[in-house]
Amino acid sequence: MFTSELATVSYIGATILFILSLGGLSNQETALRGNLYGMIGMTIAVLATIFGPQVTGAGIPWIIGAMVIGGSIGMYAAKTVQMTQMPELVALMHSMVGLAAMLVGFSTFIDPEASKSFVGAAKSIHEMEIYIGILIGAVTFSGSIVAFGKLSGRIGGNPLLLPGRHWINLMGLLVVIWFGREFMNAHTIQDGMLPLIVMTVIALLFGIHMVMAIGGADMPVVVSMLNSYSGWAAAATGFMLSNDLLIVTGALVGSSGAILSYIMCKAMARSFISVIAGGFGTASAAPAPAGGAAQPAGEVFPILALETAELMREAKSVIIVPGYGMAVAQAQHTVYEITKLLREKGVNVRFGIHPVAGRMPGHMNVLLAEAKVPYDIVFEMDELNDDFPKTDLVMVIGANDIVNPGAQDDPNSPIAGMPVLEVWKAKTSIVMKRSMASGYAGVDNPLFYKENNRMLFGDAKKMLDEVLTALKA
Ligand code: TAP
Repeated sequence: MFTSELATVSYIGATILFILSLGGLSNQETALRGNLYGMIGMTIAVLATIFGPQVTGAGIPWIIGAMVIGGSIGMYAAKTVQMTQMPELVALMHSMVGLAAMLVGFSTFIDPEASKSFVGAAKSIHEMEIYIGILIGAVTFSGSIVAFGKLSGRIGGNPLLLPGRHWINLMGLLVVIWFGREFMNAHTIQDGMLPLIVMTVIALLFGIHMVMAIGGADMPVVVSMLNSYSGWAAAATGFMLSNDLLIVTGALVGSSGAILSYIMCKAMARSFISVIAGGFGTASAAPAPAGGAAQPAGEVFPILALETAELMREAKSVIIVPGYGMAVAQAQHTVYEITKLLREKGVNVRFGIHPVAGRMPGHMNVLLAEAKVPYDIVFEMDELNDDFPKTDLVMVIGANDIVNPGAQDDPNSPIAGMPVLEVWKAKTSIVMKRSMASGYAGVDNPLFYKENNRMLFGDAKKMLDEVLTALKA
């Protein structure tokens, strides 16, 4: 059993471990250690909470039962989920945080014991915590469910833009403020229940409306933003339960999610303020098929695996740009085999990673690390962009939007302003994909028609296996 002092010390220890964990996760070489810190911190936090002073003996079997069920579902989901489905899983998990904040809010409100110790200003603050906690929780819950639906294709990716949607949101906000006043003025639980329920319904509808209005191409930012919201929901739960660790952890998640959203907004040329306000995803952000953008025209130059291998053999410097297609094809191991072979022949092989390549932040880094590609040849977009003119060959493997020159050249393109890897500046580029189909943003890619570009059509894994065989021959 943890005494109150021991529980506090454990919480401080867990907090430090969480901070170290976040620090570790910011770099590939320390990511494993970062995960370990997080796991140890969470174990300490859970033990200190279950066996701490706030839980009575009778509650322990319930908690352990819930943990066994929840833990089993979580472990099954983590084991079976495909890397490409990770954003959906994360969205679903955020919805659970939101739901938990809502339920804790309601149970704290109706529990007469919970509010007994609060009088005067402390009581008002406690009620405000409940109201705001349920509000954030409800928005996070319904918004994350819609995000899950969109990411998994159960709900269409096109933004739903209701007429006067900003006015609808504003009205909702005013009603929530009005009922907040009613809630604070209520003297009994019965009186406070109606404003609380009305606010919850509005918050749930707002969450749905906010995410429904966002186009498919902007979903990664939304997931990261909901990550931030879920952190604030957890912090609000911490206030309701007077649990310091939950407050700190929630604030860490909330702020790191906000920072990640900001980085992603920059990488996708979106405005951070409009994302935070939930008011982005207008027509220009929709994954429309090129819309008003100029349609690239011309000839494409297909190439065979054998010719690709020849070009690789002749090159002195090669940059590999992986994208979502490499993840789908699970081609990372073959990519590594090819890299190893070329490096043995003295070719300077490097990897260029776009911040939003694939379907989640760090997607490509995880895959390359899994295939044992050395960290010191993996570079971020900004580190490599100046080197393309000095590069003999660029291999674009299952990437599309992140190498689209239209983002720089065509102000009407739906991805105008998005920073991209300037692969077309290399002596030769080869794009590996199965067809001429567009990528996530739904826009055509002028790179495919450039004179120095070749298209190697086919599944990335199959074609790279052929290239590897040819290289070995
Ligand atoms: P995309 O632009 O989506 O392009 C991927 C390409 O891979 C497709 O054009 C597809 O062409 C090809 N492909 C699919 N399966 C393949 C296979 N088995 N073998 C070979 N090629 C295959 O991907 P990207 O360049 O990585 O850009 C990422 C996009 O996703 C951005 O628009 C980004 O905003 C968005 N997004 C990013 C995130 C994060 S946080 N990273 C999350 C969600 C969305 P074919 O069909 O012709 O093969």
